[in-house]
Amino acid sequence: MSKLSQLLFLGYALASNAATGGVTSAEDNRIYQRVDALLARMSLEDKIGQLVQQAGTDASTGVLQDYSNQIEDVKAGRVGSILNIAGADKIRALQQLAVENSPHHIPLLFGYDVLRGYRTTFPVPLGEAASWDLAAIEGSARIAAVEASNEGIGWTFAPMVDIARDARWGRVMEGAGEDPYLGSLIAVARVNGFQGRNFTQSGAIAACAKHFAADGAAVAGRDYNTVDMSETELREIYLRPFKAAAEAGCLTFMNAFNEISGVPSTANGLLNRTILKGEWNWPGFIVSDWGSVGQLIAHGFAKDGEQAAELSVNAGCDMDMCSNAYRDHLGKLVKQGRVDPSLIEDACRRILYVKFKLGLFDDPYKFCKNDPAISLSAEHRAHARDMARKSFVLLQNEGQILPLSKKTPTIAVIGPLADNRFDPMVSWSALGDQKHTITLLQGLRNALGDTARIVYEKGCDITEGDRSGFSRALEAAREADVVIAAMGEPGDYTGENRNRTELRLPGLQEQLIDELAGTGKPVVVMLYCGRPLVLSSWQKKASAILCVWQPGTEGGNAIADVVFGDMNPSGKLPVSFPYATGQVPVYYNHKSTGKPYQLGVPWTTRYLDCPNDPLYPFGYGLSYSSFAYAGLALSSRTLDASSSLTVSVEVSNKGLRDGEEVVQLYVRDLVGSLTRPVKELKGFKKIMLKAGETAKVSFTLSSTDLAYWTRSLEYKAEPGEFKVFVGGSSAATLEQSFVLN
Ligand code: BGC
Repeated sequence: MSKLSQLLFLGYALASNAATGGVTSAEDNRIYQRVDALLARMSLEDKIGQLVQQAGTDASTGVLQDYSNQIEDVKAGRVGSILNIAGADKIRALQQLAVENSPHHIPLLFGYDVLRGYRTTFPVPLGEAASWDLAAIEGSARIAAVEASNEGIGWTFAPMVDIARDARWGRVMEGAGEDPYLGSLIAVARVNGFQGRNFTQSGAIAACAKHFAADGAAVAGRDYNTVDMSETELREIYLRPFKAAAEAGCLTFMNAFNEISGVPSTANGLLNRTILKGEWNWPGFIVSDWGSVGQLIAHGFAKDGEQAAELSVNAGCDMDMCSNAYRDHLGKLVKQGRVDPSLIEDACRRILYVKFKLGLFDDPYKFCKNDPAISLSAEHRAHARDMARKSFVLLQNEGQILPLSKKTPTIAVIGPLADNRFDPMVSWSALGDQKHTITLLQGLRNALGDTARIVYEKGCDITEGDRSGFSRALEAAREADVVIAAMGEPGDYTGENRNRTELRLPGLQEQLIDELAGTGKPVVVMLYCGRPLVLSSWQKKASAILCVWQPGTEGGNAIADVVFGDMNPSGKLPVSFPYATGQVPVYYNHKSTGKPYQLGVPWTTRYLDCPNDPLYPFGYGLSYSSFAYAGLALSSRTLDASSSLTVSVEVSNKGLRDGEEVVQLYVRDLVGSLTRPVKELKGFKKIMLKAGETAKVSFTLSSTDLAYWTRSLEYKAEPGEFKVFVGGSSAATLEQSFVLN
């Protein structure tokens, strides 16, 4: 058993000890006794200190306040957490100041954005989601936590679980895409990976589900923008992965920057107190986003910092990230009677609970082992390579041009991403260092050795308009048997506030693809991106397109594995790829209209200049095998509250290679008290089929799978007729129906 699988196994074996929202275990009871004993000794000022988070300067993720007194603040217990400090020695030194000097010797909690690895960089989270492989995704988070905690970090600001339907939004890359069912399962896998399911395990750190809530619904895809939505939509789509994370024991949540229907998330009592801490009975603490307490003033929701602090703490935001509003105003607000001291006590209790839970009181330096053998180990890199190749989505493969033979005499490698260490790594890559990146060019060379000749030409820049490299690139193409074109977005076109109004390839890349195809040589495009891009203007000119996202440290080796057929691609899109930017937001689980589109029928919903459907739908992805679906059958035509039914289908691998397929189950509720989506993912199974093999795949459906937030805001299944679809994407057409009594 590898070290990673041992860790995962240990995690599963100890899962009964996991923090579960609301259920207080014997371990938690012991923790609360210690928390309460400590609280009883703390002054109001000491408690407020725990609610304050300051920043270091090793990462730049927001506008810095003045922290010139940080050392004095730490010694005096005026700060509970610090983010953005990298390096075990620095962290150990600050921790020592806190535990040796502060009034109650309370350890600090050090946070960092560890979204896709700490030093070993995995594909962007959206890419990982395309693997639909929950164990592998959990494995990446586990490694990220092991590496980060080795160097002082006890808290990651991940997973980002925002549903993203709008590809213009730059933060699409940080999450798991557009679907709440897939998104919830991935949220749980990531929480389990980071937290290791038991905090006595080495390398288990606190996870943070963010951004609570509906950050991805920002109007026009512009980060931080307003959101206005019904409570049913909020609960049905955007809150589901958060609920799953809370139920998985995610120790912390982070507020979103956006408002929802006029109330900024940080001061949103419905979200923070009523739903998260009330209905979900969740024991962890909520941190604001960077400066979001102070930003209530710019929102026009608070008139000054004092009111901003009052509104936020009253609404249930426990820790103030970098506004200094809690530090400056909470004491006075309590004295004035505007904030009840019990709320400060509750916030502090939650923060101390997390610190005890992590074991920081037992060993404040537990995260500072600084073992040089841990990061970027061969095992971690092997997982990064496997994760990357599992994340790739084969969008097109005309004439089965892929996989290429390793004996192909000459391969032209063209494009601005081919020999590029930076862009496959850049967004939210923590301490990932590009010097360790395997480029595409390097990966191909590693795979080929002397068996084939590679000619490399960059051709053009990613974003620039200089075509002086075109002629050399075209010449290289002409002398080759096949062209591999590495195209895409710059790495920093995605991430926080990296929003776009145009989703086509930037610079001259589309033109270069066009001219490369004009040479008559087959062009295989490796598409680097952190969001869905619009490919329609050149897609037909490419023989094959492999979406490789931003693949991380081992990207080049992983690409070579797939290009030469050592790995059969099996990724499926976790987001729809639009036909045109003007379609956005476009997503599979939309509602019908009163005039659903019908070919040739006037007055049915449509665009004049573009189809309604995306170019590549959610759940889509090809393989070197080809899978056929037949014999969709239901064990019963009716279902009631106490029964379940089995959906089965036969899946055959009609290809010549063994391959994996993600078999997907969708449901449509035909009539509801509220209108229902045309399809909703309700299950999937990733199966391996040998060439020529057929397998029967079954799913169980019960009425709880059909529940939704109804018109009376109750979560329940409504009787009526349902359709079931099974296939290899959300465009699945095999269909059956049943009635829920
Ligand atoms: C981002 C968060 C991040 C935080 C701390 C903010 O600007 O929105 O996602 O965790 O900074 O770096």
